[in-house]
Amino acid sequence: MDVNHQSAIFDFHGVSMSHYFTDNWDEVQNFRARPDDVLIATYPKAGTTWVCYILDLLYFGQTSPEPQPSIPLHERVPFLELIKPSLPTGKDLADQLPTSPRLIKTHLPIQFVPKSFWEQNVRIVNVFRNAKDNAVSYYHFCRMNTTMPEPGDWSTFLQNFMEGKVVYGSWHDHVNGWWDKRQTYPKIHHLFYEDLIQDTGREIDRLCSFLGLSPSAEEKERVTSEVQFDNMKQNKMVNCSTVQSMNQKVSPFMRKGTVGDWKNHFTVNQSEAFDEDYKQKMKKSTLQFRSEV
Ligand code: PPS
Repeated sequence: MDVNHQSAIFDFHGVSMSHYFTDNWDEVQNFRARPDDVLIATYPKAGTTWVCYILDLLYFGQTSPEPQPSIPLHERVPFLELIKPSLPTGKDLADQLPTSPRLIKTHLPIQFVPKSFWEQNVRIVNVFRNAKDNAVSYYHFCRMNTTMPEPGDWSTFLQNFMEGKVVYGSWHDHVNGWWDKRQTYPKIHHLFYEDLIQDTGREIDRLCSFLGLSPSAEEKERVTSEVQFDNMKQNKMVNCSTVQSMNQKVSPFMRKGTVGDWKNHFTVNQSEAFDEDYKQKMKKSTLQFRSEV
């Protein structure tokens, strides 16, 4: 099945990027954050959409006029640096958001985050996913999305992922950059995809305590149920079925939603080489991931 990939990777201040995420650079860098904004910051495919929807429901699930909102999640939680022809930019969508707080998504590595977020002391929710599953999910996403560069076959993509030659650069640098920020910036909450899979309710409790929210037991129950994989997969406002650049017949956006799918992709040799490379790149890091639950 054809996907007409329309972007190429280039080096952007030391990070592999593509023009869909850099063409609006000055506007993005001059973005004016507000103190009550909540920024959801992730490496691509770490569980961003899941956490965006959890936050959207926690903040606005009660007040939204309809039981199922009719505005796609990517408009309710704009993707800050995204710029695509004939669509409003993520930055403009964020500027125009009528909600308070505004929920804003970014995949930027920490050194690229607009300075206003730090000046306004904005709350940040950071989602992490183990590298192997993250790589697998990213591979399938690149296959189906015209805004991503052509990924080649799995072994080509995996090699590029290990070398940081994928959009948003090295997974290792990205997660370490965000993880280290907790030492100097208290308003950051780190959330692991594997923990969300294992106990969604517990992770929602932790999120609520970070954000100062106290939903009723019924409300929490409703959110927990609505954000289960099968429910989100059916939900047209969150499953990206309205996004033109994605060919969901090649691979659905809500693809598998599990921990450990990497075992269906990595050969033994690939896994060993990945682990060896990982050990080197993560040797100074205190970040611990689980690649099975
Ligand atoms: S993106 O494009 O970067 O914003 O993608 P992102 O949302 O970060 O990641 C997509 C992966 O998250 C999975 N997902 C979920 N897993 C479990 N439960 C729920 N509710 C859920 N929602 C999204 C989605 O299926 C992608 O992972 P894979 O492994 O490809 O299935």
